[in-house]
Amino acid sequence: MQSFSRTGVVIKTFPDSESLSRAAAELFIERAEAAIKVRGRFSVALAGGKTPERTYELLAASPLRARVAWSAVHIFWGDERCVPREDPKNNSFMAKKALLDHVDIPPSQVHPILCASSPEAGARNYEKELFAFFDKGPPRFDLVLLGMGENGHTASLFPGSDALFEKTRWSAEVYVPEQALYRVTLTALLINQAETVAFLISGSSKAKTLDEVLNGPFDPKRLPAQLIEPQKSGGKLYWLIDREAASLLK
Ligand code: 6PG
Repeated sequence: MQSFSRTGVVIKTFPDSESLSRAAAELFIERAEAAIKVRGRFSVALAGGKTPERTYELLAASPLRARVAWSAVHIFWGDERCVPREDPKNNSFMAKKALLDHVDIPPSQVHPILCASSPEAGARNYEKELFAFFDKGPPRFDLVLLGMGENGHTASLFPGSDALFEKTRWSAEVYVPEQALYRVTLTALLINQAETVAFLISGSSKAKTLDEVLNGPFDPKRLPAQLIEPQKSGGKLYWLIDREAASLLK
């Protein structure tokens, strides 16, 4: 495993997606231990899509499962597709199958984004839930897991979206024409206040975009993943990348 770090940014490459998933699970465990020790709770926003599923499966099974105090874990999502909860496209459904059905987290500590009936109401209600959780403190997730699409989107922050440069809202509804799908996403404004953000990126299909995001001109309207900069607010940013996705990086 190679690693490279600029101030607050750590780029780690792994031989394959399995070792990437293991490293992401270890980061989850390490961040959970640290947060629970200091604050008695661990708040994490899970990523959707396919890449993180193996990480969740590893956390749900022995030996890793026993290393997390699940009763102190609070689960949120970075984004959700506005489809019914049992729809295979639903991110919370994937996490339920891969992780949440196998660990003991009090149901009141699992906060799915419910937006199938109304994306606008879903976004508004989620923001209320976030306000309630963070109460009077700063909205500072202990960990946010993210993926990146081939078009440079992350969470549901898609190229050209009005939500990209949101300056007040913590969650927003977006319509993704190419998918004919409404989604709800955390905004970069909220994600960037996190203590730790980790991108999990696997596969050769991401290689060109990843090189542009990391080494190309700053163009977040075209490459929204470039908006994610928690290190500018004292947080830490991890890029956990497998060899295929890293194949074009210098
Ligand atoms: C989603 C995700 C999205 C995902 C990327 C990468 O709901 O689709 O939140 O941002 O992380 O599209 O997806 P894969 O991991 O499936 O490549």
